[in-house]
Amino acid sequence: RKGNATKEQILLHNLVQQLPKAIIIGVRKGGTRALLEMLNLHPAVVKASQEIHFFDNDENYAKGIEWYRKKMPFSHPHQITIEKSPAYFITDEVPERIYKMNSSIKLLIIVREPTTRAISDYTQVLEGKERKNKTYYKFEKMAMDSNTCEVNTKYKAVRTSIYTKHLERWLKYFPIEQFHIVDGDRLITEPLPELQLVERFLNLPPRISQYNLYFNATRGFYCLRFNIVFNKCLAGSKGRIHPEVDLSVITKLHKFFHPFNQKFYQITGRTFNWP
Ligand code: A3P
Repeated sequence: RKGNATKEQILLHNLVQQLPKAIIIGVRKGGTRALLEMLNLHPAVVKASQEIHFFDNDENYAKGIEWYRKKMPFSHPHQITIEKSPAYFITDEVPERIYKMNSSIKLLIIVREPTTRAISDYTQVLEGKERKNKTYYKFEKMAMDSNTCEVNTKYKAVRTSIYTKHLERWLKYFPIEQFHIVDGDRLITEPLPELQLVERFLNLPPRISQYNLYFNATRGFYCLRFNIVFNKCLAGSKGRIHPEVDLSVITKLHKFFHPFNQKFYQITGRTFNWP
């Protein structure tokens, strides 16, 4: 299931490269990798390992749908292919492009408490800057406007966490029934029930069980057990230590996101215990 299929296997087992029936469209740092890998525990799910960036990247998109299909893994006709590219959620052109490919596609969005997600996003960018020896600022400076002392709404990590704004753009093309919202905070602490909700949404028979998920105390996260010989944890880049952020800034962010969160609950019919 893991490696590339050989020519013989493709012919012998009637394997095909199928366009995705479901896409994890975001949100960046929500737990998109964990969700994809965990869904791949299901025998009827095949994942595109890499982020394809077909719909958000003009150059890739210009290569056409066959190029996209050829990026997909080989699968049996009864299986469903899933890909994840978190940039899709926030990129203006993407909903229309996906709609043109398949107007009845299922869309998965995994969210986390918006302030935590923004700090996680900052932490990832920071790591990249440190690697390149570039200068960087503290989260507080990025997230706050120094003139007004209010939340800096131009900061990308803040904007991405305004989930309702992005979702509203998608709803111009797809009805809400085509989306499923995954609780990314719960996927960390208690993955199985979240995965069972996704199985149901995808009309898959329930196959992922507690056997497939075991808590690894060293990693501090759940890891995946595919079978008696094959298990794996996510890469070390998943589960970074976040910097400590001034409480006053956290409080301002909570207040800032609150009305957007309310709207998000209202639209999606899923309520979270976000502050
Ligand atoms: P942090 O690094 O902030 O902890 P994405 O894959 O969308 O970039 O999301 C990364 C986040 O997935 C991590 O954020 C981590 O908390 C979360 N995550 C959820 N389940 C995980 C798991 N089983 N192993 C590692 N990280 C997991």
